[in-house]
Amino acid sequence: MTLALIVAAGSGERLRAARPKALVELGGRPMLQWSLDALASVAGIERIVLALPAGVALPPAMRMPAIEVRSVEGGAARSDSVARALAAAGEGDPVLVHDAARPLLTPQLARAVIDALERDPQAAAAIAAVPVTDTVKRVDGDGVVRETLDRRELWAVQTPQLFRRAALERALETSAQERARATDDAWLVERQGGRVIVVRAGEENLKVTTPIDLQLAELLLAARGARGGDPA
Ligand code: CTP
Ligand code: MG
Repeated sequence: MTLALIVAAGSGERLRAARPKALVELGGRPMLQWSLDALASVAGIERIVLALPAGVALPPAMRMPAIEVRSVEGGAARSDSVARALAAAGEGDPVLVHDAARPLLTPQLARAVIDALERDPQAAAAIAAVPVTDTVKRVDGDGVVRETLDRRELWAVQTPQLFRRAALERALETSAQERARATDDAWLVERQGGRVIVVRAGEENLKVTTPIDLQLAELLLAARGARGGDPA
């Protein structure tokens, strides 16, 4: 059975809201509710663990889905929150990790990531990603361009990320300093030589980081609602 971890313990500094980002209202619900509902409706996911900010209770407006949901206190860095959620998760393998900051997740994308890992026995992880459409350059500290990267090889990585449990546990056993450097868990697996495969996602699965992202998410969710909740 597949376990799902939703990391929601960040403070959301760049969003500059009055409460932690995952609990900011989006489309009439706490942001976290969207990911929780999407993952709860995926066949094969039987338990969800939420990493929440220390001392923060779930707002009464949150509705719990029919499947089991556990909550833990998150850690100092994102990967610490992943490690804490995994430690409290009980049995289950593989493990899907998702950021509450990506509320436009669809059950279809979660399913695609699960199917991709199932199809590739050699892979340690399957991660949602989208080909980069901008030209990306490496720029030094003086603002001088040093290199233009070959865009055909570049993918912008998202969540969900699905891991074979042993690979994720081994990857998270690194130093606190390395965990703090990791902006995603797949990097920790790659460094250990694990095979990580990408699953093509859509740009709609955006990360809410700044106030403009929140506005965009609001518009996209409203458009989805107008289509009758069809997430396609
Ligand atoms: N996260 C977490 N524990 C942390 C830091 C981040 O669970 N110690 C989660 C966030 O809640 C979010 C996801 O990881 O769902 C991605 O992080 P990010 O977008 O950076 O969110 P925040 O850290 O909350 O935002 P900021 O960096 O602007 O403070
Ligand atoms: Mg952060």
